Amino acid sequence: MCGIFGYTGKRNSVETVLKGLKKLEYRGYDSAGIAGLHTGEIVSCKEVGKIAALEKLVHEEKIELDLAIAQTRWATHGKPSVVNAHPHLDQGRTLALVHNGIIENHDSLRISLEKQGIHFVSETDTEVIAQLLGVMYQGDFLATLREAIPLLKGAFALAIIHKDYPGQIFAIAHESPLVIGIGHGEAFVSSDSNAFAAHTREVVFLANSEIAVIKSDSLQIFDLMGEIDKETHQLTEEIQEISKGDYEHYTLKEIFEQPRVIRQALLSRFLEEYGTATFEELNLDVNSLLSVQRILILACGTSLHSGLIGASLLEDQARILTYTDISSEFRYKNPIVPPDTLVIAISQSGETADTIAAVKEVKAKGAKVLAICNVYGSTLTREADSTLYLRAGPEIGVCSTKAYTSQVIVLALFSLMMARMRHMNKYEGQEFLNALKALPDVVQAVLDKAPEIEKIAKKYAHYENFFFIGRRYMYPSSLEGALKLKEISYINANGYAAGEMKHGPIALINADCPTVALGANSDTLDKLESNLREVAARDGKIIAIIKESDRGLEKIANDVITIPDTIDELATVPVTVVTQLLAYYIAIERGADIDQPRNLAKSVTVE
Ligand code: G6P
Repeated sequence: MCGIFGYTGKRNSVETVLKGLKKLEYRGYDSAGIAGLHTGEIVSCKEVGKIAALEKLVHEEKIELDLAIAQTRWATHGKPSVVNAHPHLDQGRTLALVHNGIIENHDSLRISLEKQGIHFVSETDTEVIAQLLGVMYQGDFLATLREAIPLLKGAFALAIIHKDYPGQIFAIAHESPLVIGIGHGEAFVSSDSNAFAAHTREVVFLANSEIAVIKSDSLQIFDLMGEIDKETHQLTEEIQEISKGDYEHYTLKEIFEQPRVIRQALLSRFLEEYGTATFEELNLDVNSLLSVQRILILACGTSLHSGLIGASLLEDQARILTYTDISSEFRYKNPIVPPDTLVIAISQSGETADTIAAVKEVKAKGAKVLAICNVYGSTLTREADSTLYLRAGPEIGVCSTKAYTSQVIVLALFSLMMARMRHMNKYEGQEFLNALKALPDVVQAVLDKAPEIEKIAKKYAHYENFFFIGRRYMYPSSLEGALKLKEISYINANGYAAGEMKHGPIALINADCPTVALGANSDTLDKLESNLREVAARDGKIIAIIKESDRGLEKIANDVITIPDTIDELATVPVTVVTQLLAYYIAIERGADIDQPRNLAKSVTVE
């Protein structure tokens, strides 16, 4: 993962780069560093911890730089430490570089460089690139880069400075995103355009093996053959002011934003009169949509869970055979992708390496790809044939909350549209739309119960193991509920299909392992009740989440949280808001770092 940022221009380079880096902190936050040229020498400063720690050190040491590159790290090779933090320099201190990605052949390169007398100081794969470039350099750095790229296996986005090239930043992208911002008399390079969007809207996205030579007043792009002409793009989406407002954490703010996020996701995307949905940005023609015989959904993490909900909706409503696969598994499968398969790739960030690789695999097999994504201009949206945007606004908390809700809404609308093109009649479509339109109020009613949920959370915060179980639409919700608790509070939580409990997991149930029963699938409530009786019989505590008018579970549950009535197909939205709040308040009680949980990163750009 990691975020990289560089700047050359008339502003204070150190401050500009630190500010940009903070906007990339979601990509990793275990250590950070900055380097640049000052009076002809490379100066660097690195610190363990968040960017604020680096900022403090930079100010204490009164670091001044003419131009600067910086990185916020999510450790892959070598633990978080000052030595392993980027930037990395070559032995002769002629160059410094920051890296996002993984060099897979770092071991063999390291051995061969050591044989040439290079002494490594860090455990990282990245230092191998710095040392390699240092050894290969013979006076023409661009030529060195072009010769070095084919020697590196893996993923790398790099920003590099060299002593012999003052005023220039060299940038390379390969299977890792990198975007250049062109300003007036200044230029930026970043893993994500949002980090400089307040300064310039004119951007160039680097493609694989392209090298950018960035100066404050010019930009040249080269591929391995020579200089190339490269299109510039304008960032079109609004710059959204990112602040916590009155909330203590971004995560809590984002949980509370969900009624608005649902309205936003629905806005002008349905036709009441025809009981169907419509997407302005969908550029797959009606005939290709009508010919779809099966749908494959690819995603990771929270997006995978919304994908499971989407798959059930598409099968239930549109009667299209739909299956969901984990991107990281799918990419190595040599998968069968029959003709007339539509692939839906879901990703909040649009930068998840596994999902992008899986998309490339299905494209190579001839399938059409529809992305569902939150970030405009992200790599996934550029790979896909068409994109439906989440319109959730920037999600800063590392744990995905509002993006899940938007994903479910967009999938529900898409499923409605596909169903109406096939079997569903207008009245059924209108009924489903009514349920969708009611969701913001349903979610608001859940949010109004935050104090009640907080009380329950406090009661259970000391347990070290939890189960989340549910049936049908509550099964993916269980996976998501358990994931949220794991991520944010570091409690061991497992999501299960309730019927599977008896096939093994029930062995773990005792008075010390509570079960969160997601009971808002009315159709299967009786069956869930039987599973819960088995839990209660083994002294397991039960927290049940049910619809207001459903009865049964209150007899066996130790605590009950109700949600307003909604249809089973959409109940995951309010139920997930309950589990988000439970996870949030439990994590608060345990003193965890809410917005930036340990070991995680928001955008996972490595395998
Ligand atoms: C990371 C994040 C998760 C997210 C997953 C997929 O692991 O921490 O919250 O669900 O990546 O991310 P995507 O951007 O593809 O939805």
